[in-house]
Amino acid sequence: MKNLLKLSDCSIEYINKLLDKSELCKIGKYDNSCINKIVVNCFFEPSTRTHYSFQVAQEKLGCKVINFYPHDSSILKGETFYDSIMVFDSYSPDALVIRSNENEYYKQLLNKVHCPIINAGDGTKDHPTQSLLDLLTIRQEYGKFDGLKIAIVGDIKHSRVAHTNIEVMKRLNMDTYISGPSEFKDESYKYIDFNTALSEMDIIMLLRVQHERHSTQMKLSKKEYHEKYGLTKERVALMKKHSIIMHPAPFNRGVEIADDVVECEKSRIFKQMTNGMYVRMAVMHEMIGE
Ligand code: NCD
Repeated sequence: MKNLLKLSDCSIEYINKLLDKSELCKIGKYDNSCINKIVVNCFFEPSTRTHYSFQVAQEKLGCKVINFYPHDSSILKGETFYDSIMVFDSYSPDALVIRSNENEYYKQLLNKVHCPIINAGDGTKDHPTQSLLDLLTIRQEYGKFDGLKIAIVGDIKHSRVAHTNIEVMKRLNMDTYISGPSEFKDESYKYIDFNTALSEMDIIMLLRVQHERHSTQMKLSKKEYHEKYGLTKERVALMKKHSIIMHPAPFNRGVEIADDVVECEKSRIFKQMTNGMYVRMAVMHEMIGE
């Protein structure tokens, strides 16, 4: 049975196949094989883009979509994550899309659940479909990955987006760096000073400060963060001519990104969102289509 749990399980060949399939979905080239398939979206953590782009993707493919909202369920009566998932499994769906704040939550479900599991984010570990949409956006921009320089800036430590991207981008021969406050550094990655990164990178990928994952309060105030690491118009002016700005979103205007940079000419943030829908169509089709 097919699952999509982490991108490090996927070969570069398979990743390129999913990206090619996403491009076909973009131009409306997909078959009817997902029509009436029942898919259940189970988001145990808040989500706007990931959840609803999955839903739009599923609806475009003709699936029947069930959305499980834990905070309007028997979770409130003490039912566990595992038992909640097994409720849906007992109705024989064709796929389960799951997000949880627990790293590798899916391990307890393997060999129990009877349909593909698509990981929509687990704790600080993996976010495979986000990385796929990031890669699609980069490939559309540059037509290649090899040799591109990227700095991921901000709360690296708590970011499944950073961890997933860095692993796959290294395999794609991209030159990957991290930047931002030292309290969020991960020593296993190459660090670059933010101002140096601005003038040298092809891609500046910003991250939100993920307060909900912090055990202690961030040392910097929001204002200090913005002054030191916020992407402002002045800093955008230091970037290379053809370089781009990315952000998985949600973004906090006035913290990691200035209000007037969100939709500036270099920003691909909304393009990433649109690509998210195509990538999730491709992934759904790959998992449950023919
Ligand atoms: C990210 C996530 O959930 O990891 N959001 C997303 O899926 N687009 C990043 C974040 O929450 O900051």
